[in-house]
Amino acid sequence: QATHLSDYRPPAYRVICTELTFDLDPAATRVKASLHLERHPQREAGLPLELDGEGLDLKVIALDGQPLEADEYAVSDTGLIVHRVPERFRLETEVEIAPQANTALEGLYRSGSMYCTQCEAEGFRRITFYPDRPDVMATFTTTVIGDAEREPVLLSNGNPVERGSLPNGRHFATWEDPHPKPSYLFALVAGDLEKVEDAFTTASGREVTLQIWVEEENLGKTDHAMASLKRAMSWDEQAYGREYDLDLFMIVAVNDFNMGAMENKGLNIFNSAAVLTHVHTATDAAFQRVESIVAHEYFHNWSGNRVTCRDWFQLSLKEGFTVYRDQCFSADTNSPAVKRIEDVSVFRTSQFAEDAGPTAHPVRPDHYIEIGNFYTLTIYEKGAEVVRMLANLVGKEAFRRGSDLYFDRFDGRAVTIEDFVGCMAEASGLDLTQFMRWYSQAGTPEIDAFGEYDYARGEYRLMLRQRTPATPGQPDKQPLHIPIRLGLVGTKSGRDLPLTLNGETLGSDAVIDLREAEQEFLFTDVSEAPVPSLLRGFSAPVKLRFPYGREDLAFLLANDSDGFNRWDAGQRLAMLALDDLIAAHRNGVEKVMDTRVVEAFRGLLSAEIDDRAVLAEMLTLPSEAYIAEQQPLVDVDAIHAARTFVKQGLATALRDDFLRVYRENHCDESYAPTPEQIAGRSLKNVALSYLVAIEDEEGIAQAMEQFEADHNMTDVRHALTLLTHSSRDDLSEPALRAFGEKWAHDTLVMDQWFSIQVTRPQPDVLDRVKFLMEHPAFSLKNPNKVRALIGTFAGQNRVNFHRIDGEGYRLLADVVIELNRLNPEIAARLITPLTRWARFDETRQELMKAELERIRAEKLSPNVYEVVEKALA
Ligand code: ARG
Ligand code: ZN
Repeated sequence: QATHLSDYRPPAYRVICTELTFDLDPAATRVKASLHLERHPQREAGLPLELDGEGLDLKVIALDGQPLEADEYAVSDTGLIVHRVPERFRLETEVEIAPQANTALEGLYRSGSMYCTQCEAEGFRRITFYPDRPDVMATFTTTVIGDAEREPVLLSNGNPVERGSLPNGRHFATWEDPHPKPSYLFALVAGDLEKVEDAFTTASGREVTLQIWVEEENLGKTDHAMASLKRAMSWDEQAYGREYDLDLFMIVAVNDFNMGAMENKGLNIFNSAAVLTHVHTATDAAFQRVESIVAHEYFHNWSGNRVTCRDWFQLSLKEGFTVYRDQCFSADTNSPAVKRIEDVSVFRTSQFAEDAGPTAHPVRPDHYIEIGNFYTLTIYEKGAEVVRMLANLVGKEAFRRGSDLYFDRFDGRAVTIEDFVGCMAEASGLDLTQFMRWYSQAGTPEIDAFGEYDYARGEYRLMLRQRTPATPGQPDKQPLHIPIRLGLVGTKSGRDLPLTLNGETLGSDAVIDLREAEQEFLFTDVSEAPVPSLLRGFSAPVKLRFPYGREDLAFLLANDSDGFNRWDAGQRLAMLALDDLIAAHRNGVEKVMDTRVVEAFRGLLSAEIDDRAVLAEMLTLPSEAYIAEQQPLVDVDAIHAARTFVKQGLATALRDDFLRVYRENHCDESYAPTPEQIAGRSLKNVALSYLVAIEDEEGIAQAMEQFEADHNMTDVRHALTLLTHSSRDDLSEPALRAFGEKWAHDTLVMDQWFSIQVTRPQPDVLDRVKFLMEHPAFSLKNPNKVRALIGTFAGQNRVNFHRIDGEGYRLLADVVIELNRLNPEIAARLITPLTRWARFDETRQELMKAELERIRAEKLSPNVYEVVEKALA
């Protein structure tokens, strides 16, 4: 039941225009479709018409106005076949569906009292019979009929053209979308919603009305999303020359949503968590996430909608490119160095883990069972890294010429990754043949680097060896074209030395191209012994090893001109210390604090601070998940113990510095999510976390005060987290209770309340997870709740999820089994931590596999089936 890239063929028939009428009813919505179809010019005549359709109750079917006889068509579980059709024709169908029974949240479903849709990737087939594939692009006219009181607002894609009343308290609205689009971009929303309105004038003078639709109680939470939208609209005009193309742009917030948001043409639908913010309910991180997701969905209007994907194997064509675009946007509006550090931290933890596990796949997979399982870090984030490498390889100007060419040449078409890279090759004149391997080869390339300085000759020889480990289905790998940005930092001057390679002067910060399995680079005229600063800015998504000593790392941490690599040197230094401590813990040897780490941190804390946000990142130890990624065999307890030891060691040694930094960065201004304020809060809160880690009296008092001052959610949540994760139940319990009561009415804040509690390191947390699953604010049917409680526990509370009695695994498997019936997409995602069993000790391996087997014994959705089969293969 797998679909293969190599099987691609254009559809036999394409749809020119699609007319839909929805008569809404929770249990029995009627969907009438009138499709104007014609034979695809590249396909032979006389083929049957095959339409996708799932869970549809067919009531009426007619071809060119003639009802079809029972033997002229056939309906199955997956679709409808009309045996004989002419070259051009009109097909009318009417089906009945039940939105209120739709717990998978794909197709048309209910979220609270509203109706909404999610069609990407293959949800439209749950709405009506249709060629539900991205290379079929049609104009849509949609009429929505609803109850005038319960659903005063009726929305769909494009421009509103007509509305009016109907008998029996019903009313209707008709929408027209003139831009041909695939079915996955269709959207419908109906309900009792309020709007916030604004306007934007495009560069060429088009007046665009901007609307954000929310439930009434959320009216005060849309300002930041609206401001972000306007910034994104002008950024895309400046950076890519892309303007908006309709008179109306709408965003709707819904509480029940499988993902972050969806770029439906003219009618973006958002998970409420990805659009609503308020100083008292959303953290700085949430403000930034909203900004980037609003921008991401808006940018899809060109990279995704105007130019779309030929088939779902090309998913990264729109997602990788659009993530790259939103990353650049956020870097431009915030601190670029911190943005890069944050993105790379997530990438090296989660994407590397995906690459190393049983579900590893290339940026362009060549087969899948369920495309819903491929909305992954590899498609999105690695895809974005590949586009970033391309942009750096061809250079800024050629990249812009290439993207202009791409949007121009392929406007209104459904295309492939070759088409995109082809434009870049054409615009730059570069040969990108070898580069294309990044799209087809899975796994994280590993580079071993060695360097040698010849004092007498003033030469530095850099040797690089690349290798990509085998991944499922891909035992042998070929060398990739890997751009490595680097500098040689002089040990005497502390400066980047000028680089000369093969007689060519490169400046002091340059990119070298690694193309061979093994390659040597000889730098000449190197006037002093250097420490190499390699892979600056994470110039390629690889693991790079270099035998740095602790001195070298401390030197780079203090001197590297590249902010990203300065931070990374600190991480590497901390990792060396952590490795020793992990070994000590395993061998039952007494743990000793590495004084070099203490001194490096002391240096950071007392240095003249230029970028407080970067400093906050530098003071943050690698996460347990990141540390685990570096270990051949993951010992969760040793990692937790080692990290806690370093944290407490630093806090003890530098207690006064942390307290000073905490105080110095206190801010009384009214809250604003500006880079300046966010930097101050991050730094202050990192400092506070050290103080509370040793239960310093003053630190605890500050945390209590910060919690009670209730200045903004970032500070409140951070303080509550620190108290909750400390062993001081006398402080955390009253605080948790107060917070829970205060915010009982706010579903997004309650999600945070759940997450804070289930990440407690204390061993009794599993009972709390079970207890909270019974809490009235929890629901297995709401993906945000499942993520906040179960996903956070399994993904972030490593010591307790991996309990040696297997109770953590059992709990997760129980939830997966239940969700497999309710919401397969969420169920399949939730399994991820169990699929990583190979990284753990034998006891845990057996326990994890046993739970996977228990899941496998169920009657499984394709989503869960595919993941479990891979995990147990
Ligand atoms: N295209 C959306 C976005 O990245 C995500 C849609 C995901 N849909 C799904 N069923 N997984 O902006
Ligand atoms: Zn996207």
